[in-house]
Amino acid sequence: MPAARPSFAVITGEQVADTLTGNEKLVVEVVEETYRLHGRGDSVNPPSYFLRFPDRPSSRIIALPASIGGAKSTDGIKWISSFPENVAAGIPRASAVLILNDHDTGYPFACLESSIISASRTAASAALAADRLSTPARGGRPRRVGFIGTGLIARYIHHYLQATDWAFDAIGVHDLSAEHAASFAGYLGDTSGDAAVTVHDNAEDLVRGSDLVILATVAGTPHLHDPSWFGHNPLVLNVSLRDLAPEILLASTNVLDDVEHCLKADTSPHLVEQLTGNRDFVDGTLFDVLEGRLTPPADRPVVFSPFGLGVLDLALGRLVHDQLHASGRLAVVDGFFHELDRYGRK
Ligand SMILES: NC(=O)c1ccc[n+]([C@@H]2O[C@H](COP(=O)([O-])OP(=O)(O)OC[C@H]3O[C@@H](n4cnc5c(N)ncnc54)[C@H](O)[C@@H]3O)[C@@H](O)[C@H]2O)c1
Repeated sequence: MPAARPSFAVITGEQVADTLTGNEKLVVEVVEETYRLHGRGDSVNPPSYFLRFPDRPSSRIIALPASIGGAKSTDGIKWISSFPENVAAGIPRASAVLILNDHDTGYPFACLESSIISASRTAASAALAADRLSTPARGGRPRRVGFIGTGLIARYIHHYLQATDWAFDAIGVHDLSAEHAASFAGYLGDTSGDAAVTVHDNAEDLVRGSDLVILATVAGTPHLHDPSWFGHNPLVLNVSLRDLAPEILLASTNVLDDVEHCLKADTSPHLVEQLTGNRDFVDGTLFDVLEGRLTPPADRPVVFSPFGLGVLDLALGRLVHDQLHASGRLAVVDGFFHELDRYGRK
């Protein structure tokens, strides 16, 4: 960490991937510990700030400032763009940087490529929630999984489930784009052992045939309306947040990552609050589940809606930074901070 003379490092996506790959279980542990710190109030995580553009309504850039306590107190901000049209142009939708600031001096000490950190923390959070919500009373870990929306986040969630020892008999995929669904099915065929991979051309078949449903689309408004599709009480990871109509949430147990964060920006939980005028449908947070205060019943669907917390990005960014530092691979930018004497003395 910066001592007398602050330093600044730039960490590439390649370094992030090298550090996190193979350490998925550690990443899930770090995410769990961060949820616990946040749940105990040892964090500052103000609302995300959405920068939108009148001339490009489908695009946005979000700022997620945050501060975490614990043994490795860190402040910082993630600045993440979502430009869905990128996909047709051949590059991923999301791109991001993460700035880490020193807890004692406020000096920024690292800038990290952060699309991988963001996808990894999202997937680790999904894998953690899936594990803790698949209680014995609910039949344990589902073996039939279905992905609605088959982009980069779907791939990361599948990877984190596999890396945390999930095994599937059947994997369903559905996407508005047949090309995306086929590409993801091809990826699953190469990585998923004996699991039968099926592309569904409609969402209903996928939902009805899956006990774990993963929503990772870029839908802006609900397109899944019929609660009867969820009559077999699946576990739903509502990662893309806006696919489910209020009536489905009202028939489910609802677990959020953070209530204040989730009830914003026209997410499905936010739509329920607007419809009902209250928050009675919220059963609790993932922290409540981790602490044993909330056990989901077996006779309703369970919907986990994670808004995505900046503290998770900070925790993973700090992990990557510290591992690179410990192994002598941190690329420090010489002279980044130049004006370090108030009176210009050399
Ligand atoms: N909650 C969180 O913490 C968190 C974090 C990261 C990303 N996300 C969300 O995850 C989602 C997926 O991100 P990505 O990077 O994989 O995007 P992506 O663009 O790579 O993939 C999205 C896919 O969804 C498909 N799609 C769009 N509308 C659909 C619909 N109605 N039905 C079925 N498929 C549909 C698209 O064709 C595309 O293949 C985004 O909404 C993003 O905001 C959430």
